[in-house]
Amino acid sequence: MEQKWWHGKTAYQIYPKSFCDSNGDGIGDLRGIISKLDYLQELGVELVWLSPIFKSPFVDQGYDISDYQDIDPVFGTMADFDELLAQAKARGIDIILDLVINHCSDKHEWFQKACADPNCEEAKYFYIAKGKNGQVPDNLRSYFGGSVWEPLPGHESEDLYYLHYFAKAQPDLNWYYEPLREKLFAMINFWLDKGVAGFRVDAIMNIAKDLTFPGLPADGPDGMCAANQMTAKLSDQAATFLYEMNDKTFKPHDAISVAEAFGVNAASLANYIGDNGFFSTIFDFSARELNEKYPAYYRYRPVSIAKWRDTIFASQERVNDIGFMCPIFENHDEPRGVSYYLPRHAQNPDGAKAFAAVLLMLRGMPFIYQGQEIGMTNTHFNSIYEFDDVNAKDNYKTALEAGLTEQQALDILNIESRDNARTPMLWSDEKNAGFSTAAITWLKVHQDYKTVNVAAQRHDPKSVFSFYKALIALKKNPEYKELLTYGKFVGLKPNAEYVVPYARELNGKNLYVVANFEDRAIEYELPTQGKILLASNDAIKLEGTKVTLPAVSAVVVAD
Ligand code: GLC
Ligand code: CA
Repeated sequence: MEQKWWHGKTAYQIYPKSFCDSNGDGIGDLRGIISKLDYLQELGVELVWLSPIFKSPFVDQGYDISDYQDIDPVFGTMADFDELLAQAKARGIDIILDLVINHCSDKHEWFQKACADPNCEEAKYFYIAKGKNGQVPDNLRSYFGGSVWEPLPGHESEDLYYLHYFAKAQPDLNWYYEPLREKLFAMINFWLDKGVAGFRVDAIMNIAKDLTFPGLPADGPDGMCAANQMTAKLSDQAATFLYEMNDKTFKPHDAISVAEAFGVNAASLANYIGDNGFFSTIFDFSARELNEKYPAYYRYRPVSIAKWRDTIFASQERVNDIGFMCPIFENHDEPRGVSYYLPRHAQNPDGAKAFAAVLLMLRGMPFIYQGQEIGMTNTHFNSIYEFDDVNAKDNYKTALEAGLTEQQALDILNIESRDNARTPMLWSDEKNAGFSTAAITWLKVHQDYKTVNVAAQRHDPKSVFSFYKALIALKKNPEYKELLTYGKFVGLKPNAEYVVPYARELNGKNLYVVANFEDRAIEYELPTQGKILLASNDAIKLEGTKVTLPAVSAVVVAD
């Protein structure tokens, strides 16, 4: 496998609105991020992904972009961004941005022009179509609920619709129109020329469309079919565009591209992440995909750590000889991992540490989502009015329409909502958890901030934070770096439901991870004898090949 500059690094995702507020308006910003770069350096991460910071009406929290080459004033200025880039670089941290190019905002000037004149050049950047037999052009359901079609503003009486796979305020961009693609590629090169190291590529598989808009057989009582079913059918078409994008942007810059690509089948993985693939790497969403196939939260089934283990093991083994996937446990679209995947008795700092061991030693570049490194759990919301997320509100509505009570719908949001992990970063036990001096923050502050925060953990050698730090340091340790970067992943046989054991192997050298999420001690027999490199709990013992782990703990051993 060809070696790349980013191999072996640990990445960190910042959700800018909720990381650190420098000017007291209740919203995180770029100067806030700059003030926390020392913290990120201390943690040891070397790549930071910023969720969108571009001009936006924030209908979908910045994933609706109205100007791709400007910074939204709520975050700061281009000068602030340049400073962030330079200051991060000085600390050995590269920045990657969020590339949201399946759609833009309805406030983007392109869409405004398209509405003013559906025959103009910019109108070709979108999918604008006539209805069929008095109906919208097809029966696809948007990711956030309802039809993917919406009457074109100002042209309602002309039976003209525009396509949006996400919110109504996010019109899809027409990748089949070459001049539009060239505009997007130029924009990507603008940021790469500035010195960003690459991109996290948003919702990218959706760029493929069937221009005859045939629709699909209904998958629900609303007569619609989830848009991602169409996306899945058309992935080969997306691939053609993605090769072109790579050739014209990422590749000449030696940039990293990390794609949010759901549903990639095993047979085509090499096209995505192989040496000549069109992305550097993609997130491993295999565990999340267990639920993504359901059209609404209220149908989701809990994913246990055992299911998580089996799913992740399979996907790690699948790519051993192909390339890298990025293991993730959390991001801004998911509830907190500790709350979501771990059994109740492990939803605490011990569980957070054990999970960190599992995640960070996997093959591929792991992403830590802000707050994960201090063991943040789901935020508790008392009413629908405390939510901000467009998707949460849509799912609430869908749940009520399906006959759930308000309390039942709220309970589901408290488990599944994206806002669970979007609340402010917990820096200290001061007002607003040290995130902001404002009277109120844009989204509520997590209920546990008095006890779970950076200040309480930073200098405590037994904290979740210190354990993350130690694991990241181990990945950089010259003795294990190669093994942890290029070593093969080998799933070991679990001897209890909630035990997660695996090996990394390179040139006859092995490293083992055993995590015990059972509520009792377990003994585990390692394939070879080794020495403990890291243990999450003092009571972990290793005798010969036998390791004894107390309830909810993890160990990293090398032979
Ligand atoms: C991706 C983003 C998500 C956003 C969606 C539409 O899934 O991660 O936050 O809502 O794309 O851009
Ligand atoms: Ca601010």
